Amino acid sequence: MKLKKEISKIIAEALEQASICVDEVSVNEATRPEFGDYQYNGIMPLAKMLQRNPREIAQQVASLIKTDGMIAKVEVAGPGFINIWIDSHWLCDAASVMLQDEHFAIAPRENPIRVVVDYSGPNMAKQMHVGHLRSTIIGDTLANLLEFLGDEVIRQNHIGDWGTQFGMLVAYLEESGLDEGSENLKDLEQFYKDAKKRFDEEADFADKAREYVVKIQSGDAHCLYLWQKFIDISLGHCEEIYKELGVGLAREDVRAESFYNERLPLVVDLLEREKMVEVSEGARCVFLSGEETPVIVQKQDGGYLYATTDLAALWYRSEVLHAKRLLYVVDARQSDHFKQVFRVAKASGLVREDEQLEHISFGTMMNRDGKPFKTRDGGTVRLIDLLSEAVARAKESINSKEEYSDKELEVLAQVIGIGAVKYADLSINRESNYIFDWDKMLSLEGNTSLYQQYAYARIMSIFRRYGGEIGNTISIDTEIEHRLSLALLRFEDVLEKAAKDAAPHQITSYLYEVATLFMRFYEQNPILKEEISEEVRQSRLALASLCGKVIKQGLAILGIGVVERI
Ligand code: ARG
Repeated sequence: MKLKKEISKIIAEALEQASICVDEVSVNEATRPEFGDYQYNGIMPLAKMLQRNPREIAQQVASLIKTDGMIAKVEVAGPGFINIWIDSHWLCDAASVMLQDEHFAIAPRENPIRVVVDYSGPNMAKQMHVGHLRSTIIGDTLANLLEFLGDEVIRQNHIGDWGTQFGMLVAYLEESGLDEGSENLKDLEQFYKDAKKRFDEEADFADKAREYVVKIQSGDAHCLYLWQKFIDISLGHCEEIYKELGVGLAREDVRAESFYNERLPLVVDLLEREKMVEVSEGARCVFLSGEETPVIVQKQDGGYLYATTDLAALWYRSEVLHAKRLLYVVDARQSDHFKQVFRVAKASGLVREDEQLEHISFGTMMNRDGKPFKTRDGGTVRLIDLLSEAVARAKESINSKEEYSDKELEVLAQVIGIGAVKYADLSINRESNYIFDWDKMLSLEGNTSLYQQYAYARIMSIFRRYGGEIGNTISIDTEIEHRLSLALLRFEDVLEKAAKDAAPHQITSYLYEVATLFMRFYEQNPILKEEISEEVRQSRLALASLCGKVIKQGLAILGIGVVERI
């Protein structure tokens, strides 16, 4: 249900009846209960334009708003605000419809678009680091979200699998005869260090490494075989992490840097044809107005760069994948890179004018003392260790009256631990840096995944105790029921806005509001106590049921699971 749009439409109609022309009417959620449920504050600028008294206009418009359906009451407040109360009967019906509909009464998109979400993008030569963790979590959420709303989502994992380091790594792999399951390659960081040491200390090895770079790039079968093997092993490690995280990135989603090799010279040709290339110190560059540094697309020695590959990828995504919206979930340090390649892609016609290119930037993950997240000796934190620690800590923190089998405890710890890591990341505005704090993220108090999971389990426990069938009809008697129903009906509005802004934290804030309202509703409005009538009980059970569904679906979009009992 697009609540805001419906209410805005009613206001627009009233304005029209008052012969006032407005391009777009948009209401806001009221910030305080005494302001009603929604508020329209567009009258003041209008009055200024018309040189009329705002309160007078507001009065006139308010009197023209019909109060026999969705809207129960309107009031003019302050200098000319229109406060709007939603009718409880209308709310009951809408909430009941939502409860009965598998897709939360969210209508299919009128114009679904094809969206590419570029996320995760680890480098095969190095260990996946915390920056990739954030990209993976945020990107996966955005992909789930857009898919849920009906867009056609194409996930792209732009892994770094090309470049000079691979000569050295592949030569070292050949020498040490490592196989898939080998312990040694499990720690890519160490493997890299060992290879580098050998490269620096032994001239013969260094020569071979250099020879292998050339051979890989010129398509030598043996070297390409080794390279592929190396990539497979390395990618296998990333996939372990995806699996642990419950992230939906598959092999088919990989479009590695090397995938674009054949397009690279074509990109440079096209830019040349568009007369955008200038040679500077032997390198082919694109200079952009207002930018100090040019985009280098080809080095003096003929090699291509990260930017060239991204231009080729933009082209592919536009020309072959027909994407209309392209999201790049990459950390903030690459802002300039994306700003520049997007400009070049648009100016050269590699992508069409109407295609929406967005860098979904995010900040750095910090320690509790405000420093970038590192191990004690300053090394990169192995993500797989971080995730195991999350599960272990979750297991320790489970302090429940329930009896669990070992198997159940495993599942519970997994759902809670991984959920906590993801939720903590998603619940802050992605642009900010964020402090990784185990205690906070595993807390039952506050805006955490555990709080949501607990609310969900609480609802399930009510149903278990009740034992009977739960109906679909919601009726509203109390203030808190009104507020909870209204919050639940805002689900679609919240998801749409979060999708537009690519802002997962808007979903977590919303879920927090829903779970908090549910807890309050449950405290104030008994469900299972004998003193209430069966009819009221049924309605409250139905409201709890819708609440559970919204929490579960909201968390599923964030890639977080629920459990039936905690
Ligand atoms: N591999 C890159 C890195 O680790 C991230 C790739 C992001 N995607 C892209 N199309 N450039 O920095």
